[in-house]
Order: sequence, then C-alpha cells, then structure tokens
Amino acid sequence: MSRKQWNDKVVYQIYPKSFLDTNGDGIGDLRGIISKLDYLKDLGIDMIWLSPIYKSPFVDQGYDIADYYAIAEEFGTMEEFDKLLAEAKKRDIQIIMDLVINHCSDQHEWFQKALADPEGEYADYFFFREGKDGNPPNNYRSYFGGSCWEPVPGTNKYYFHMFAKEQPDLNWENPKLRQELYDMINWWLEKGVAGFRIDAIINIKKDPTFPDFEPDGADGLTGCWRMVESVDGVGDLLEDLKKHTFQKYDAFTVGEVFNMRDEELAEFIGEDGHFSTIFDFCAHNLSDGEHGWYDAPPLNFQRWREAIVNSQLEIQNCGYEANIIENHDEPRGVSRFLPEYARTPAGAKMLGTVSILLRGIPFIYQGQEIGMQNAVWNSIEEYDDISTKDQYRIAREAGLSEKEALEVCGRMSRDNARTPVQWDAGEHAGFTEGTPWIKVNPNYKEINVTDQENDPDSVLNYYRRLIAVRKSPEYKEVFASGKFVPVFENTESVMAFYRVDAHKRILLAANFGKETTTLKLEYPMKKVILSNQGSVNIDTSEHAGNTLTLRSCEVVVLDCE
Ligand code: GLC
Ligand code: CA
Repeated sequence: MSRKQWNDKVVYQIYPKSFLDTNGDGIGDLRGIISKLDYLKDLGIDMIWLSPIYKSPFVDQGYDIADYYAIAEEFGTMEEFDKLLAEAKKRDIQIIMDLVINHCSDQHEWFQKALADPEGEYADYFFFREGKDGNPPNNYRSYFGGSCWEPVPGTNKYYFHMFAKEQPDLNWENPKLRQELYDMINWWLEKGVAGFRIDAIINIKKDPTFPDFEPDGADGLTGCWRMVESVDGVGDLLEDLKKHTFQKYDAFTVGEVFNMRDEELAEFIGEDGHFSTIFDFCAHNLSDGEHGWYDAPPLNFQRWREAIVNSQLEIQNCGYEANIIENHDEPRGVSRFLPEYARTPAGAKMLGTVSILLRGIPFIYQGQEIGMQNAVWNSIEEYDDISTKDQYRIAREAGLSEKEALEVCGRMSRDNARTPVQWDAGEHAGFTEGTPWIKVNPNYKEINVTDQENDPDSVLNYYRRLIAVRKSPEYKEVFASGKFVPVFENTESVMAFYRVDAHKRILLAANFGKETTTLKLEYPMKKVILSNQGSVNIDTSEHAGNTLTLRSCEVVVLDCE
C-alpha cells in the first residue's frame, strides 16, 4: 500500500482475550470479533489490528508463540479465522496480525529441539552461550526483570531472553531462521492479511559478543536495552525482512519501536523506510521511571503538550507515525493523561479529538471509544500480567509498603487496559456468560456500549462523529496529509494546533484546564466542524475582536479562513 492508500485510515486494536466471549469459557474469541464487525464498521474503522491469536501457552498473553501457523484453541479455529477475514472484507475492513518475531515461546518446536540437542542445528536458531565462572554470560537485565540468561539444563550453557524466560530470543544472524520466518510471514500474506503490527522489532539485532555494561540497579544488572542502543546494523536486518516479505505484497506495516536513534527516523518511516509507520510513544515515554513504575514522574500537562508538538514537527519532515492514547501495554488514557476533574465524558471526548486529528494514523484501542478507565485493584493476586508482578516486586524492594506498591500498579499496570470490554450493564458487562479470565472493571454499569448507543451525547456517538469528520470527503485530505502547526503554546492549559493544506486551515483547540479560558483567534472562522459541549462561544463583536472562549474540558474544531 502506498502512503496515499493508508494515511487516511482509522485502525482499531483488538485484544482478543478481552473483547467478547461467545462460548462461555470466559475468554474472548474469534466469533466474538466476527459478531462485532458491524459495530466496528459503524464506528468508521478501516483496519483491525489483532493482538496475537496464535497457539501459545500465554505466559505473556500470546506474545509467546508456540506455533506461528496455528490459531490458539482458546480463540477458535483456522476456519473461523478465514471467516473473520472474509466477513471483514465484505465490510471493506482490512485485518493486520501481530508479528512477534524477536522471540518465540519455549514451547515452540524449534526451542524444544534446541534443548534436546544443544549442539545441534536448532541451538543456532537461538543464542546459546557458555557461562562465565558459573555465572551467566553477561549482566543484562530482561525487560520483565531478572537476568536475560537462563541455564540450558544438563550443560554449562545459557540461552538468551530479553523478555520472560519462556520467551527465548531468535537468532536473526542465522539465515535459516530468517528464511523460516519469511516463509511464515508470506504464508499469512498469501491468506489475505493486509499487513502486520510488528512486535518489539528493534531488539532483533544483538551484539553477538554480548559486552557487559555498567550496572544500573541494586541487582548489579543493566537494562538489556543498552545493547539495543549501542549495536549497529538493525537496519540491514529490517531491509532484508522487508525485501523478502512485505514489499512483495504491498503490505501495511507498523513497527513497535523503542530505543531508536533519532537520526534514523527517515530510515524507519521515510518514503523507502523499513516500515509504513511506527507508533509514536512520545507521551507514554514521559512516565518512564529511572528504576521502574514506582519512580515514574507524575504527568504534567505542559510536558505532555510539548512532547506531542515536538514529535509532530519532527515526524512531518519525513513520514507518518501511528497515534495512540492507549494499548494493551499502557494504562487507559483517560485515567493517565487527564487530571481527576477531567475524567468525564467531556474529557474523554477532548482527549480522543486531539489524538484522532493529529497528523498520523489514529489507532483506537478497544473500549477507548466508550471512555473506559483504569480498574481498581485490591491485591497483587488480582493481576495476571507478568510485568506488573515484576514491577510490584521492584517497588516493594525499593521500600514501598504493600499499599503504596499496589497504588503504583493501579496507575501503571498493563492489566488496566486488559479488563473485558464493557458491552452492557448486565452481569460481567455482557462480556461472557461464564467467569471472565480477568476481572471486569466495576464501573461497567456507568460505562458500557449499550447505554452509550442510546445516548446521542455519549462518548461512543461522539467518536462516531469524530471519525466521520476525519473521513468526510470535505476534510479527509487535510486531516490525512495536512501539515501540523502548533498554536497558543504559551497558553497554560490549552492544546491547540492547525491542520493546513493548500485548500484548508482547520483549528483544533482544547482546554485541559479547570477554569474557562479565552483565546484570541488569528483567523476568522468559517464553520464549526465539531465541538464536545454544544454551542461554541465565539465573539466577533468590535470590542472582543475575534475570540473563542473554552469551558473546562471543551474542544472545538473550526474551519478557518
Ligand atoms: C511488546 C508487546 C507486549 C509484550 C512484549 C514482548 O511490547 O506489546 O505486550 O509483552 O512485546 O513480546
Ligand atoms: Ca470463548
């Protein structure tokens, strides 16, 4: 797909396990997704990204793949997947899969064969290295905590894993392994998927000498991302991947890329970039703590605005990024980016408007369109997420009380976004007739799809209008390709920008503050395109000049001269 074919699309991320269960086992499934395609069509969705649905032991919720060619039984069958593809196609909706190829599951046949014969050819699909004086080969800490090295039973070797020990890293230096992956990718593309969201992809390039780095924590280890930042050559691997797969099928690709070197942006998303696009995590990175979630800095509106503005200005020099508020790894945006007084339907609409009308491809995460929020968790046992358990441990070891550590997880946990979609006010929010695999957010009686269907003013119906505006024949072009120009950057609580092309100048202005604020408009307004609080207060009288007054949590989108 050329840029022109995807830069006006709106994408929806489904986390299948929590979307909709149709057989009462408490786990969302493919049939659940099929039954909601009309709902997604109605919302204005062009493309669905499915979080992993492959066969997996679910140590990391499917990001640990045991068979790339099989559908997890929990989710359904290959026939049901084919049906999903066909039904989506009927509605002009494309499907992209999650591609997890930095690592696989320790249950994958390749790894099982490698363990059975640590000197054999499959060991070279992974990184097997000898220990140093009875210790692991080096001092890297995995993303989920603890050493990156796990002993290979019956040997003096260790295998390398950047995530959980059940997720051994694949050796991309081995051409045989690469070919196996390319064949698999092409197999899915032949089936008719439109492309992939590509997981943790920057990590595929290893420094095969695995040098030690200065320890950065009390455990004496160092974050494995340091190797990612220091090693050269990931671009060659990514080009090889693209050339043998995506390029041949004109596929859409969105990379999950952290720790990229700034100067390499164009190589990643430029005209001939490694990917169609990558996610913009600039706002999410603001809450990176030095040692973990527990020392994450609190969100500050000005820093958030500045991060987004700078990122938009940078990206438009070379390509497009994918804009998100939340995903399956991040807390709910309403709870994270909005102050307490703004965690309301008006606030959810305001935040959504900013995200969806920025320059880039909007990705909406399931439940975002009804303004779902973080859950309230009462004990660490209620959590499922492997990373949350690690972060809880880190917080406790750093001296936080149980209550404090839980509070941190309550704010930051990945499980906040993984609670079931709230379909109605009935039992288990209409997600399942059985027992949900993870608890439902108790606020489902106030926040659910069915109630919002019936309320013209709901967050859901607002999202429908918002997406329709973005895709309308009149404004499609300017929202897809128009330049991003920030404005009112010195106004304390206002996030505002223009989207501009040769034909249109659109102003978006949002008041994140608690108090009403008045802005002096630079251009006369032609038309109100969208507003989240009814009538728009513009005063063009002589004494006022041309001013716009915004209530707290008000957002307006104006077509200007
Ligand atoms: C990505 C996924 C995350 C997963 C990790 C390891 O960051 O989004 O859910 O845990 O990769 O595959
Ligand atoms: Ca099910």
